[in-house]
Amino acid sequence: MTTTWRLDELGDDLDPGRPRELSAALVATFERLHGVPPAGVFAAPGRVNLMGEHTDYNGGWCLPMALPHATYVAVRRRDDRRLTVTSLQQVGAFSIDLDGLDPASLRGWSSYPAGVVWLLEASGLRMPGMDLVIDSRVPVGAGLSSSAALECAVALAACAMAEVAVDAQMRRRLIDLCVRAEREIVGSPTGGMDQTAALLARPGEALLLDCLTGRTEGVSWSFPEASLLIVDTRAQHSLSDGQYGDRRAECARAAAALGLDLLREAPDLGVALRRLTDDILHRRVRHVFSENLRVGAAVRAIRGGEHRELGRLFTESHESLRDDFEVSCAELDLVVDTALVEGAYGARMTGGGFGGSAIVLVADAKLARVRAAVTSAFAERGFTRPAFVVATAAGAAAEVESLTR
Ligand code: GLA
Repeated sequence: MTTTWRLDELGDDLDPGRPRELSAALVATFERLHGVPPAGVFAAPGRVNLMGEHTDYNGGWCLPMALPHATYVAVRRRDDRRLTVTSLQQVGAFSIDLDGLDPASLRGWSSYPAGVVWLLEASGLRMPGMDLVIDSRVPVGAGLSSSAALECAVALAACAMAEVAVDAQMRRRLIDLCVRAEREIVGSPTGGMDQTAALLARPGEALLLDCLTGRTEGVSWSFPEASLLIVDTRAQHSLSDGQYGDRRAECARAAAALGLDLLREAPDLGVALRRLTDDILHRRVRHVFSENLRVGAAVRAIRGGEHRELGRLFTESHESLRDDFEVSCAELDLVVDTALVEGAYGARMTGGGFGGSAIVLVADAKLARVRAAVTSAFAERGFTRPAFVVATAAGAAAEVESLTR
């Protein structure tokens, strides 16, 4: 997804803004563009993943946490069947007729909102025409799930306009539908963790997700004297450029070679490794297997308040993603190495990799030091200046404002 993110407005930090203020500004923009106020404003959060990377499409476990950074959608029903979408992050609006819409003709960012509405209709829910105006505080390309936030916010807005109640069961349906929009219409073969976090997360908690059964469990996030620092390296990250799909295909090949549907089903790492001759598949399997174990260990560390152990697991996960799964990059490695030298408990890349963000678990007393050291290490290497934010655990997608309905 290409965009022009307004770095000048963000300054150095990834400011999530205040939902009420952002929503009020979006209502005013909607009114200016359409001459009438919207019927409501819906928001869905980005997420940061604490542990369990590239495990979701292998049927494994992961541990995402929703962020206060959200995508906001102001919406109003139309009397005809047109869908118009304006995004404050994109140049140019688009307008399409829902009758006769061919999803294969969708290109670029329009495939996210239009794809979701098309799939809602294809699933049997009659969609009215709608005007949507979108604003986002989830940075694009930062590995914090801007795509899922957009899909899920549009899904909630469209359901409201179609008068479809979104109860717990409908949220589960919307997760599947948004994942399908991303895979089948946008063309990014992602795994489902992001949409699950956006639609099911609870404030103050990380979400333990079993991707085989869909079972979720809240894990209360509280480290009184430590912070979870997100560092957006601003190195390019796109899930539809092939490397993510390559990793997914390698995992599928390894599972097939082991006679399994999903790598999660491998009962024993030693046995699996002895049966695989290919060195690359060897290393991919070793990552997935060890990463799944680290999710359980991370949950125990969080529940026990063991920040040193959680930090150790972060760093071990990074090494596995860097050496065995090969999805890190120079900028992500530099954040991790620098944070460790400055005395952080641990650090790892988060999300799909190949750029995007890293997370650092660090004592509050050392937070400023880590930040300054990472900034100057980036300057020395000639990398783009990174952006920082201390993560807090936000809740799931919801209606922010109900106006004229
Ligand atoms: C991206 C995908 C997720 C997941 C992560 C890696 O964020 O959207 O489904 O696979 O990468 O853990």
